[in-house]
Amino acid sequence: MFPEKVINILLIEDEEYDVRRVRNTIKPFSKTINIRNVISNGRLALDALAAEKDAFDIIIMDFQIAGGLMGEQLIREIKKIDPTFQIIVITKMTMNLADYNFANSLMMAGAFWYCTKYPGDIEEYIYQPTDFFLSIINAYQKRVLENEQSKANSKILRSIEETLSQKPIIGNSPSIITLRHQIEKCAESDASVLISGYSGTGKELVAVNIHNRSKRRLENFVPINCGSIPNELIESELFGYEKGSFTGATSAKLGLFELANHGTIFLDEIGELPLNAQVKLLRVIQEGELEKIGRREPIKVDVRLISASNKNLEKEVEEKRFREDLYYRLNVIPVFVSPLRDRPDDVPMLSEYFLGQFSVDMGRVKPVITPEAMSVLQYAPWKGNVRELKNVMQRLLFLDEKVITKELMQKAVGLQVGQQSSSGGGILNLSELQEPIVLRDLERIVRQRYIEYIRSSSSSDAEASKKLGLAPPNYHRMCKELGIK
Ligand SMILES: Nc1ncnc2c1ncn2[C@@H]1O[C@H](COP(=O)(O)OP(=O)(O)OP(=O)(O)O)[C@@H](O)[C@H]1O
Ligand SMILES: [Mg+2]
Repeated sequence: MFPEKVINILLIEDEEYDVRRVRNTIKPFSKTINIRNVISNGRLALDALAAEKDAFDIIIMDFQIAGGLMGEQLIREIKKIDPTFQIIVITKMTMNLADYNFANSLMMAGAFWYCTKYPGDIEEYIYQPTDFFLSIINAYQKRVLENEQSKANSKILRSIEETLSQKPIIGNSPSIITLRHQIEKCAESDASVLISGYSGTGKELVAVNIHNRSKRRLENFVPINCGSIPNELIESELFGYEKGSFTGATSAKLGLFELANHGTIFLDEIGELPLNAQVKLLRVIQEGELEKIGRREPIKVDVRLISASNKNLEKEVEEKRFREDLYYRLNVIPVFVSPLRDRPDDVPMLSEYFLGQFSVDMGRVKPVITPEAMSVLQYAPWKGNVRELKNVMQRLLFLDEKVITKELMQKAVGLQVGQQSSSGGGILNLSELQEPIVLRDLERIVRQRYIEYIRSSSSSDAEASKKLGLAPPNYHRMCKELGIK
């Protein structure tokens, strides 16, 4: 239990007599504990700590010292310099063993410990030597742990900052400025957020931004697409099950809610959640606990809910496909992400951003978009919103042109089959192919574009999968394979 390193102490004490007693009390442990400095004034002590943060591990301080800055105020100031400093308070007031309020106020200020047992030999020792020694060792171990934790946390924070900088919300239109403001507000609170908006407007991006800016950012962000899980599996996915709870349950399964404990769960396409799962979800929100299949006692969870839908949920409620009580619970803070056609001013910034990203990824020179071509881009119908714009930018890079003219842009945007659908053509113009490609690749392009087209004209993934005659899980798998989401 003795640490390998010597524990360095700053002693804040203004009475010679007490300094001597402290020294004497820890004398038998001098190989482990070293009083590196003794300072009799609060301000000077803070200066010394700030100047040499790593030189001290533990602070032992008298509660009352001369010079003004002392007691709880001094404790708070020390903690501000480094919250991992551990402070042991010595004071004659601790003689009063039943003074819980005093004890409490020291702990609330941030003290690690204060000594209560008075020694037999009051002339020689400040406290019972073994108790004193143990509290120093414990304080030191806590400091080491907190240091490790804070290092790990700052590592996670750095990676979150990286994620955030990789996932910026581009745009300066009034609606995006309002959206950024709403994200800030949502991040400050723990209330449930319901994000609505058409497909591809950036709902998931908003959810990730809220989580990564909230106090839960060091915990998990667990996204789940409610439309992609077969009805009969949704409960076990969300809430998990115990081993042996049904035939085939050969091991216990952790539900997504447990995985998201203390973090955020993102319920995408919430409108697709079957009614039986809606009841269970309501219970989790109301009671803060979930019922796991095969388990008697409920499990407590603390999860922040962000949901998203491109369906009109109010209509779903009216038509009794979505529970009204659940709707109100989810929609505490409504956030609407506006469609791209309502913010053409964002198009130049977004397209430059995506073009820049793809050209780096693909190792190509970023082409220049002429003003006329940009104007085509700004006023295209954008049924698939930002996702569609992103796809168009990727397609433009494949053209390998230095300058994107109006004609090239019209072609690229026109290839968004949604526009040409009335004529029935446009999924693939064979003149697009610079050279012959194998049939499998051609099939892939056709599948990709047709699914994109159907998606852009559907109000939800569930509707799109129905139109395509695919079971939702197959549909989602196919989208993933084709890189559509
Ligand atoms: N304002 C924006 N700035 C940068 N990238 C954006 C922006 N909006 C959307 N995107 C990008 O567009 C793509 C689609 O966004 P996202 O998946 O968040 O949309 P969605 O609303 O969840 O779509 P769906 O309804 O189809 O699930 C993502 O790659 C996302 O990063
Ligand atoms: Mg989404």
